[in-house]
Order: sequence, then structure tokens, then C-alpha cells
Amino acid sequence: MARRLGKRKQKSREEFVLKERNKISDVITDDRTLQNLRKMFSRKVVSEVSFLISTGKEADVYVAHSGDAVEKRFVALKVFRIETSSFAKRIDYITGDPRFDKVKNDLYNMAIVWCKKEYSNLRIAHDAGIDVPEPYGFVGNMLAMEFIGDDSGTPAKRLKDTDLDQPQKVLHRILGFMEKLNKVNLVHADLSEYNVLMSSGKPYIIDMGQAVMLGHPKYAEFMERDVINILHYFRKRYAIDMDYEVVLEKLNSNSGQDAYVKA
Ligand SMILES: Nc1ncnc2c1ncn2[C@@H]1O[C@H](COP(=O)(O)OP(=O)(O)OP(=O)(O)O)[C@@H](O)[C@H]1O
Ligand SMILES: [Mg+2]
Repeated sequence: MARRLGKRKQKSREEFVLKERNKISDVITDDRTLQNLRKMFSRKVVSEVSFLISTGKEADVYVAHSGDAVEKRFVALKVFRIETSSFAKRIDYITGDPRFDKVKNDLYNMAIVWCKKEYSNLRIAHDAGIDVPEPYGFVGNMLAMEFIGDDSGTPAKRLKDTDLDQPQKVLHRILGFMEKLNKVNLVHADLSEYNVLMSSGKPYIIDMGQAVMLGHPKYAEFMERDVINILHYFRKRYAIDMDYEVVLEKLNSNSGQDAYVKA
């Protein structure tokens, strides 16, 4: 009898948890992520999670309805994976960045640091007037940011999946963003047609977790790689030929590197 009661109790608790979960979201089921999501609810950043936009190697991205603390209708929620095959890669982009040099490198902590780092990079870029999603806040390994897409909640397409009417203009805008980023001593470090979204004909730079500050030993190398990736894409797809050395020189001559003081 006692056993049966125990079972019934257990079942009703499971049902309760399930009900609570459904109330919050039927797309996020991991306990730690749910806890972080609850905080997003109580901070009124998010009111309801709608659907999964993308499942990547590093993170899952969801579109959510905003809460009262956010003016816009939708929010993009990026949930960083705790278990990831590119754990070693993350360390490379953290060690050497003066802001995040001394971190404990266990898996959950790394995901949190990565999330904090993307928040911080987006904040710097947004404040510098670069078109990136405005970061709203983060809890643990969950980052809330401006949703780039239309008013119905459809996410913007990647540069790679868009046929541009004015590719030259878009390329110049992206190079202008790189210049501005360099002026505030940041380099994206994974810039390509995959990490640019196109909304109303304008490019938005996304995915800035790996971006590093001047002082990182590979800052110059990452900058070169970003320039090569972008120019290569526009050459291949739109036959726009720009001299890589000229672009790089212009980027460096306009940098704010002299103002950099190591923390
Ligand atoms: N702010 C946003 N607004 C709308 N869509 C977004 C936003 N951020 C990310 N996305 C969508 O989610 C996808 C993955 O985002 P992101 O590149 O930041 O994550 P990732 O971990 O690098 O994923 P991947 O391994 O696929 O590159 C993007 O290609 C884009 O389609
Ligand atoms: Mg990406």
C-alpha cells in the first residue's frame, strides 16, 4: 500500500513538473537551461519561447516573445552547449584575451565564460555603432539579444543564403564594421558569409563569442583571416575584386590601437 502511494505520488510530481515545463516552454527541456530560462522570465526579458532557429556546434538559438523589459516584440535566445567538441578551440580564444585570462576551465564554467564573452563583445560592438544584435542580458549559459528578422518572427537569412542586389554596398558596409571594430580594439575572428545576417537589405554581424581584444597573441592573424574570408566570398559569388593588402592596410591605419592600455 505504502509502495503504491509512493508510486502515485511520484507520478503526480512528474506530471506537475511536465505541466510546469509546458507552461514555460515545450522546446527547452534540460533542467539547468530551464532554470536559466525562468530567470529570463522573472527579469521580464522573455515571456514565451516560440521555436528553435538553429542547432549549431556551439549553441542552440531560439526565437522568443519578449517580456515587458524589452521594447521589441521578439528576442533571440542563444544557449551555449556545455558539452562541445570544440572545447579546446574555446580555450584558445579565451586565454590571451586580457579580460578572460584567469578562468577555471571546467565544461560548465567554460560555457558560462563563452556566453559572458559574447555578451561583452556584442555590447562593445553595439556601443561602437556597429550593426550587431543588441545584447539584453545573460544568465549562466543563456544569452538574450535583439532578434534580427521580420515583425512576424521569421529570422533573417544568412549572407550566404541571400542574393544581393547591391553587393558592393554590402561589402563596403561590412568592411566599415570591421574598421569600427578594430578602432575599439576588437576583432571578430570568425567573420564569414555564415555569420552575417541580411535584414531589409542591411548586413548584421552575429556570433561574437570568439571575438578577442587587442593583446591576444593572434589578434593580427584573426584580422587577416576575417579580411580574406569576406573578400574571397564577394569575389567568388559577385566577382568583386578588392586588393586584400589595401583593405588590411586601411583597416590598420584607422585602428585605435595606440589608445590601448593593457589591463
Ligand atoms: N540575433 C539573432 N537573430 C536572428 N537569428 C539569429 C540571431 N543569432 C543567431 N541567429 C540564427 O542562429 C544561427 C546560429 O547562430 P550563431 O552563428 O550565433 O551560433 P553558432 O553556435 O555559431 O552556430 P553555428 O555553429 O551554426 O555557426 C545563425 O546562423 C542565425 O540563423
Ligand atoms: Mg555561427
